[in-house]
Amino acid sequence: MGDKRVIVVTGASRGIGRAVAVGLSQPGCDIIVNFNSGLDAARETAALVEQKGAAAHLAQFSVADPDSVKQAFKKIMDEHRRIDVLVNNAGIARDNLAALMRDSEWDDVLDTNLKGAFLCSQAVIKPMMRQRWGRIVNISSVVGVTGNPGQCNYSAAKAGLIGFTRALAREIVSRNITVNAVAPGFIETDMTRALPAKAKEAMLAQIPAARYGTAEDVAAAVAFFVSDAAGYITGQVLHVNGGMYMG
Ligand SMILES: NC(=O)c1ccc[n+]([C@@H]2O[C@H](COP(=O)([O-])OP(=O)(O)OC[C@H]3O[C@@H](n4cnc5c(N)ncnc54)[C@H](OP(=O)(O)O)[C@@H]3O)[C@@H](O)[C@H]2O)c1
Repeated sequence: MGDKRVIVVTGASRGIGRAVAVGLSQPGCDIIVNFNSGLDAARETAALVEQKGAAAHLAQFSVADPDSVKQAFKKIMDEHRRIDVLVNNAGIARDNLAALMRDSEWDDVLDTNLKGAFLCSQAVIKPMMRQRWGRIVNISSVVGVTGNPGQCNYSAAKAGLIGFTRALAREIVSRNITVNAVAPGFIETDMTRALPAKAKEAMLAQIPAARYGTAEDVAAAVAFFVSDAAGYITGQVLHVNGGMYMG
């Protein structure tokens, strides 16, 4: 990737999103650090981005809210005149067994993890088409492919994201825009820290690499898709999971 790129990372206040924002930072780049509620955490991300010589810009909006997304991307375009890279990372989990799942648990997860990626992608398609260059990377999950009990909502959203990735990739590759997905396995972040110790141990037993992944492991895969070297790769899912699942 050349320098001077304008890069939007959703859910960049913490975890994987933060590592992606920092990983893509280089002098000359503008990094838009989206967050929903964690202003202090987003400021920490911005400081790390600036340590790498890029310019950081905070953007508070919920990816699940269509009007907020439209306004936010209009502001980004007004200020920067272009958007080169979008990483759809924002995500939540609301785990429950299907038999007990509330409608709101289903809707919140689908709205954030799947519809949010659609809304943000829709907002960047036209600018990227005009530029005839763009990179969209969606953060899916291993459970979007394998399924996971207690995560029907999350697994459906993450599987949906793979279908979305492939369909959109076919729509816009002729304009030199690639759309790919990264599917992390078990990564140590706030999302997984919230799990009971027993569940974490059971997970570890399923990972041939015998360690949890780091946010930086995922960020490296995102950086590859964003790079100029990956310009002929689109509609793909790159699994970053220590051998937990081999697609
Ligand atoms: N951790 C794993 O093992 C793992 C595995 C596979 C896939 N993933 C996926 O990787 C992504 C990042 O996960 P993580 O583990 O880094 O999660 P995390 O530590 O819980 O961080 C989630 C991030 O998403 C943001 N976010 C949540 N709802 C949002 C909304 N409506 N609008 C904008 N931002 C929102 C949060 O912002 P605020 O804090 O500001 O609200 C935060 O920055 C998610 O899509 C997740 O599903 C994670």
